[in-house]
Amino acid sequence: MKPLTVLFAAFLLPALPALAADPWGKADAKAGQAKHAEKCVACHVKMYGGDGSKMYTRDGRMLSTKLDILQRTAACNSQVQAGWFPEEEAEVAAYLNQHFYKFKD
Ligand code: HEC
Repeated sequence: MKPLTVLFAAFLLPALPALAADPWGKADAKAGQAKHAEKCVACHVKMYGGDGSKMYTRDGRMLSTKLDILQRTAACNSQVQAGWFPEEEAEVAAYLNQHFYKFKD
C-alpha cells in the first residue's frame, strides 16, 4: 500500500459512518410512534381518512430528505403546540421515516 492509501484508510474511512448518520441520531422510533399517535394523527385522518398516513405517501408530498422530515416535524410541533423537546421531535421524525417515507438520505 502506498502511504497515501494507508492515510486514507486510517483517517477517512472511520469518518464515513458518521457522514451517513441520520439527522435524528439514534432516536427511538417506537417512542416517536406513540407521540405521533397522540398529537398528530387525528388531523391527518380527518383530511385523508384511513390511518392518515396518506398524508405522507400521497402524490406531490412535500418532503424529499430525512432533514426535511426533521424540520417539518419541528415546525408541526410548534404549530400544533405539542410541546416536544428536540429529542422528541427526533423520535417522531425517525418514526415517520421508518414507516412511511423510507428516505435513504
Ligand atoms: C391541525 C391539523 C394538523 C395537525 C394537528 C398536524 N398536522 Fe401535519 N399536516 C397538516 C396539513 C394540513 C398538512 C399538509 C400541508 C400542505 O399540504 O401544504 C400537513 C402535513 C404534514 C407533513 C408533510 C406531509 C408531506 O407532504 O410529506 C408532515 C411530515 C406532518 N404534517 C407532520 C405532522 C406532525 C409530526 C404533527 C404532530 C406534531 C402534525 N403533522 C400535526 C395538518 C396537521
